Formats: sequence, C-alpha cells, structure tokens
Amino acid sequence: MVTKIKQIEGLEVGPMTEDDLDEVMQIERMSFRVPWTPGMFRQDLSFPLARCLAARLGSAGKKRLAGYILCWFIADEVHVTNIAVRRDIRQQGVATLLLQQALCQARREQMRYCTLEVRVSNEAAKGFYQKLGFESRGIRPKYYSDNNEDAMIMWLDL
Ligand SMILES: CC(C)(COP(=O)(O)OP(=O)(O)OC[C@H]1O[C@@H](n2cnc3c(N)ncnc32)[C@H](O)[C@@H]1OP(=O)(O)O)[C@@H](O)C(=O)NCCC(=O)NCCS
Repeated sequence: MVTKIKQIEGLEVGPMTEDDLDEVMQIERMSFRVPWTPGMFRQDLSFPLARCLAARLGSAGKKRLAGYILCWFIADEVHVTNIAVRRDIRQQGVATLLLQQALCQARREQMRYCTLEVRVSNEAAKGFYQKLGFESRGIRPKYYSDNNEDAMIMWLDL
C-alpha cells in the first residue's frame, strides 16, 4: 500500500527494493559516522523478518528517495535497525511518516512493543523518538565501538 501525507507534496511510502540502493547509500553515508554497507541493506532486503520501507518524493518517472526505515519483527517485538532522511528535507515529517507506517504494519502483525538504540549524543533522533511517544528505558554502555559512545534504549508500547 502507498500512503501520502500533505506536509510534502508527492511524498509516498512503499517497500524498499534493490533499485533504491544507490540513493540509500548516498543518504546513509551522509547520515552516519559508521554507515551500513550495501551488503547489509541487501541482507535485510532478503531477510524474512525484516521490514524495509522507502519514502519517495516527486512526480511519476522522476521520483527521488527521501528516506528509509528498516526494522526487524521478531516474536512480539519490533526493533528499528536503521532510519535516515535526506539532509535537505529533514524536519518536514518524512521520518514521522516512515515510522508511523512501520508501526501500523507492526500493529497489524500483533507486535506488542518497539525498541531501538540511539547514540546519547544524537539530540535530533532522541527528540524525534520522544515526539513519537518513545521513552528511555536505560543505557547500553560503550555500545558504539567507533568511539565507545553509550546507547540509549528507547521503547514504545504498541
Ligand atoms: C532523526 C531523523 C531520522 C529525523 O528525520 P526527520 O524527517 O527530520 O524527522 P521529522 O521531520 O519527522 O521530525 C519529527 C519531530 O522530531 C523532532 N526532531 C527532528 N529533528 C530534530 C532536530 N534536529 N532537533 C530536535 N528535534 C528534532 C522534532 O520534535 C520534530 O517535530 P517538529 O518538526 O514538529 O519539531 C533525521 O534527523 C536523520 O536522518 N538523522 C540522521 C540519521 C539518524 O540519526 N538516524 C537515527 C539513528 S538512531
């Protein structure tokens, strides 16, 4: 199913495919200190428990990738493994639409809660998750091996 919101004209969310990978990698590399590799995205695209959604912007035939979300649906838990939005269109509701779509799918599949880890220094992402109703449920010390940064565990009951 494709969903539209009114904040950005022409924004749609649908399944991510291999055809999105070049644009996914552009966003990924500008968004993270330790970006995923194309192989990691390919693994998730073929992993039966993964759900991979892409937001696209523009008119038919000239669509551009706006952002993406990847989650694992395991037992009754959704774990968000990756979410990013193209830098020049942040704070316009793209990530909100992506996460809401993933959570709609989670509720349809009777998931009970959603969890994720976020760098303690990532104020934008922490603000984003809090706005969507997530709460902090603890710290994983030195979770990120590139700089030994702690992760905050975020949690949402569905
Ligand atoms: C985190 C991220 C995905 C948010 O995407 P986005 O499309 O800009 O988010 P939205 O526009 O849906 O924001 C919704 C709310 O989140 C909060 N938020 C988003 N960006 C924020 C920022 N830079 N500072 C503070 N709060 C922010 C705000 O409450 C915002 O609501 P508002 O615009 O009404 O104030 C985006 O900043 C990003 O791609 N960051 C790099 C990758 C990343 O850190 N991913 C998360 C890893 S855990």
